[in-house]
Amino acid sequence: MRMVDLIQKKRDQKTLATEEINWLIRGVTDGTIPDYQVSAWLMAVYFNGMSRQETRDLTQAIVQSGDTIQLNGIKGIKVDKHSTGGVGDKTSLIVGPLVAAAGVPVAKMSGRGLGHTGGTVDKLESIAGFHTELDEAAFIEHVNKYKLAIVGQTGQLAPADKKLYAMRDVTATVDSIPLIASSIMGKKLASGADAIILDVKVGNGAFMKTLDKARELAEQMVEIGKGLGKPTIAILSDMNEPLGYEVGNANEVKEAIEVLKGNGEPRLTELCLTIASHMTILGGVYPSLNEARQALEEILHSGKALNMLRTFVEAQGGDPLMIDQPDKLPQAPHQLPVLSDKEGIVESIQADEVGLAAMKLGAGRETKEGSVDHSVGITLVKKVGDRVEKGETLAFIHAKETNPVEALNQLKEAYSISDESPSVPPIIYEIIQ
Ligand code: URA
Repeated sequence: MRMVDLIQKKRDQKTLATEEINWLIRGVTDGTIPDYQVSAWLMAVYFNGMSRQETRDLTQAIVQSGDTIQLNGIKGIKVDKHSTGGVGDKTSLIVGPLVAAAGVPVAKMSGRGLGHTGGTVDKLESIAGFHTELDEAAFIEHVNKYKLAIVGQTGQLAPADKKLYAMRDVTATVDSIPLIASSIMGKKLASGADAIILDVKVGNGAFMKTLDKARELAEQMVEIGKGLGKPTIAILSDMNEPLGYEVGNANEVKEAIEVLKGNGEPRLTELCLTIASHMTILGGVYPSLNEARQALEEILHSGKALNMLRTFVEAQGGDPLMIDQPDKLPQAPHQLPVLSDKEGIVESIQADEVGLAAMKLGAGRETKEGSVDHSVGITLVKKVGDRVEKGETLAFIHAKETNPVEALNQLKEAYSISDESPSVPPIIYEIIQ
């Protein structure tokens, strides 16, 4: 086979056969196909798309490009959860303990943040001593013993995706539904879960800006999962403003603790309970959504889920005192208010701008090699639909510097204040199963 022929086929809107995709992904993985040819093929895919069969073949080839984790040693049905990425998205920190407290084993692999979105591993590392480096045997042992373990992604899982993603990043081809679907599902399927819940974000802070695009991505991922024998459900949720009040690593851990105490912001709590309900049904613990919901609310308000968070944190080396006393989590030295120039009602909060402001403060990384500062971040005081007076605080910046002008301006710009009440989008648009 010659790569130039496969590029030409895709350029001419033809369909690649299974063995052609397998050959191509083997060449990407072992480096025998040069980057310039892979890049040309990615651009052809970007413009001409892929058939459902090609996307499924690409996903399987990505899974087979490296190790696959065997979770057979864990008793019970393992349900994994994945978010397509957003700002202030701390749902894994809440849903993991909630679902585990209901009796479903949660063996989760999570990533670090990049750009304007955060990552669960960075957030958890705000807790002194917490580490995500468990080998496969320890990972399985932790899940059997505590019901919940969260580890970082290993180097050998889906290496083809690592290479493709790095090339997509620098060739403006990230934003392609078949490439995103195969990238996400390839990693999820390699990590060994029995069933998968996808939280597909929609809106200005998400990859998918419109409901139609998000639905298309969700449908393709659900089809891939089911086609490969893994029950898969996608929840389309709103990312037109940051999720909850807190953005930044320690900030988000604090907010997750509040939700687990039953004092969470309603939209964030609703999303977590919905995701957890579907996970526990897939996990075979509850027979219906009503029963799952009722039981999970009970678990949340009884403090069992918060106890689960404490146990899991301690088991992975973290200081449990930081869960009992969240003010012991890292805190930036300066708390700076962002004031409103006018009165009115908050019409929108550009989530991606808030995420970028947090990144500039040091909460996120611009490149994969960068490091994060766990103590800095943003607390939104006003959210969409809230009334605000002139001079009132819209948000606080938690910073290392005394005057982080760029982040302050960016955060202020992220807010639109209007005279009229906006229509607040629902937190959950649709569920695709
Ligand atoms: N997240 C992924 O893992 N892959 C993509 O392509 C986009 C988001």
